[in-house]
Amino acid sequence: MSRKIRLFGLFSVLAIAFVIIGYGVNHFVVAEEEIEIGSPFELTRHTGETISSENFRGRYMFIYFGFTHCPATCPVTLNDMTVVLRKLAKTNPDFAEKITPIFISLDPHRDTPEIIGKYISHFHERFEGMTGTYDDLIDIVNAYGSYFSYDPADAYGNYNVNHSSYIYLMGPKGKYLTHFTPDESVDQILERLLNV
Ligand code: NI
Repeated sequence: MSRKIRLFGLFSVLAIAFVIIGYGVNHFVVAEEEIEIGSPFELTRHTGETISSENFRGRYMFIYFGFTHCPATCPVTLNDMTVVLRKLAKTNPDFAEKITPIFISLDPHRDTPEIIGKYISHFHERFEGMTGTYDDLIDIVNAYGSYFSYDPADAYGNYNVNHSSYIYLMGPKGKYLTHFTPDESVDQILERLLNV
């Protein structure tokens, strides 16, 4: 009998321990979901001057990371972002006006401010282009839960930059609001934009 009591005692301790551990794990998961996406940044604008996330306070940032030599994903996405803003401007001009489309090049070796400026001129007229040092870019991409890497260069010195294809929407206070995946159509993005 005393052995049973001791066992019961042991199980009680274990049960309490599991509840505590369980609570801890649960708490940790909740905390993880609250981890912030994005971070303040300071980069070089397509005009050559320094630009920081503070410059966009009071505005929405519609951000995409890529590189100008990208064969398909980047031009398609920047075009989609342009179409989204044009469509939004027809129905909600005040909101559309508050959104700044931003292209951040992950390829500063080839993408000089001048090249970035020329590239974004093919898309929405309010596009802001920027890039930074590799360290800056790694910090920003990590903060956004994104990634990029370089493939080895071919005989002509051309190389591909692997990168994620999310479009991020940051609010007027610089906080993350949502992101859009490459699977979402222009109309799906538009609909979700109207509901943030
Ligand atoms: Ni790309």
